[in-house]
Amino acid sequence: MKKNTYIIGNWKSNMVLSEIKEWFFRFSDLSKGTAIPEWLNIILCVPSIYLPATRELVEWHKLSIQLAAQNVSPFSEGAYTGEVTARQIREFARYVLIGHSERRTLFQETNEHIRQKVSQAHDHDLSPILCVSDSSMEIPPGVSIVAYEPIGSIGTGKAETPELADSVAQEIMNKSKTPSIIYGGSVSGENARKFLEQPHIYGVLPGKASLDARSFWDIIFHVL
Ligand code: PGA
Repeated sequence: MKKNTYIIGNWKSNMVLSEIKEWFFRFSDLSKGTAIPEWLNIILCVPSIYLPATRELVEWHKLSIQLAAQNVSPFSEGAYTGEVTARQIREFARYVLIGHSERRTLFQETNEHIRQKVSQAHDHDLSPILCVSDSSMEIPPGVSIVAYEPIGSIGTGKAETPELADSVAQEIMNKSKTPSIIYGGSVSGENARKFLEQPHIYGVLPGKASLDARSFWDIIFHVL
């Protein structure tokens, strides 16, 4: 596998604390005795409200898992009721997902919002994982992980073919000079390895398959 490979689970707006605790007990049990190699970065994008508790669970179970928020305020601190700032997230996580297609379509996020969010992340030493659904979409400078997620493959069980995803990843890489392009959209234990074997794909971003500790572990296990 490549030097820096990413497996990034996106829990979206799912899970409550009791379920998160259960997830960690199961994951810890499944992964017991398997060393996670240095080239593999396992990241979980959890609801912001659970970042502190999830970080404690990661430490308690001694797991090689990094955390990400699923969104960040486009503003720094101040009178922005309901927003969670990059500075607040940075206390608990190293990464932040920005511009997921659900945020662009359901919450009317524009390129301007996305530029502001990326800039907030950079100002507070958070690494943005920027989601795009095709190679023509804007990628602000300095983004080091771009997730290519074709809309028709998200949550449908119809993943894109690894070859097609690779050609789009190559276009994105050539255009933006981003070092790590990853693929998301109906990733499972069965198809993850095929995506990661492509020359321009450096990781996968499973949503549904990350909600169950066993199916998330299956993805990891298949690429080790
Ligand atoms: P999915 O979601 O794996 O359930 O298709 C991926 C995503 O939306 O990031």
